[in-house]
Amino acid sequence: MAEDVVVVHNLQKYFPAHKKNLFVRAVDGIDFTVRKNEVVGLVGESGSGKSTTAYLVMGLYEPTAGTISFQGQDISLSAKKRALTLKKEIQIVFQDPGTSLNPQRTVGQILGMPLRVHKVVPEKDLEEKIALLLDMVGLPEDYIYKYSRTLGGGERQLVAIARALATDPSLIVLDEPTSALDVSVQAKIIGTLMRLREQLGMSYLFITHDMSLMRNIADRIAIMYLGKIVEMAPARDFFQRPLHPYTQMLLSSIPVVLKAEQELKPQRIRSQGEIPSPVHIPPGCRFHTRCPQAGPICLQEEPEMMEAFPDHRVCCHLCHKAN
Ligand SMILES: Nc1ncnc2c1ncn2[C@@H]1O[C@H](COP(=O)(O)OP(=O)(O)OP(=O)(O)O)[C@@H](O)[C@H]1O
Ligand SMILES: [Mg+2]
Repeated sequence: MAEDVVVVHNLQKYFPAHKKNLFVRAVDGIDFTVRKNEVVGLVGESGSGKSTTAYLVMGLYEPTAGTISFQGQDISLSAKKRALTLKKEIQIVFQDPGTSLNPQRTVGQILGMPLRVHKVVPEKDLEEKIALLLDMVGLPEDYIYKYSRTLGGGERQLVAIARALATDPSLIVLDEPTSALDVSVQAKIIGTLMRLREQLGMSYLFITHDMSLMRNIADRIAIMYLGKIVEMAPARDFFQRPLHPYTQMLLSSIPVVLKAEQELKPQRIRSQGEIPSPVHIPPGCRFHTRCPQAGPICLQEEPEMMEAFPDHRVCCHLCHKAN
């Protein structure tokens, strides 16, 4: 098995809620790893804590509890306190390149910033390096002089990817990188990301709502529900024998359409019932209020994560019993 690049252990992030003494338990004790040269898909409904997890890994938030380590070094501190050499190793691409790139800056200025901060190349080689980055994401060299506001959504996202590549990171966190883009552009961005990962040997933590995309690109998939990871497995095993009732619900709600059509159309997750508030997480198994199979124990005891099959972990009383 490939070595771990990132190891997250019992990670929590609570935010103060509007009401006194209450907390939004956005991330509520999660464990996962991202291995070398691997795409880990983090999938969940809106509000399940995916972006908060991304920001914790990036160091944009400081954890309430738990640890994050990168290649064996503790990086649980916020990015402000992380060493510059560590910061360059983990980069992020956000959902909306319209807001993550400054419209008043040229592509050259945007890509020049991380190169200068991290002193990736001497000043005299800056333009050459920027041209190389543009080439890596398939954009013409002369884009260096264009203002980001003049670019289309897909091109902007390619610039955001080039910016993430500037520091030669080991891990890129992708927070729904294609969901704000037209379907026709999405495939190009995904293709570019997959090619780059292959060429550069990076790892991706890929956050998405899009289960059918995960089927095509993820090596392992983690399902997040109300601040917890409820199932994590290698992609093939995950789709062949999903164990958690929530995973089964998500998979069954992907409409079956023509294969060709399905490849074009990203599927957003649809499931029965509403996700409860992370301020008032149900006791016992947090999924019991929506679970068609919930029994008495599910209302009382919080299930523990256990390995049901090799590398396939699940957090469900019923799955524990079945295996
Ligand atoms: N800074 C914050 N202060 C208070 N609550 C927050 C904050 N950031 C996130 N939350 C809450 O934490 C929960 C998880 O949010 P998060 O953005 O991580 O979800 P998500 O899975 O990324 O959702 P989406 O799919 O809509 O992007 C939500 O209930 C959200 O309202
Ligand atoms: Mg999000």
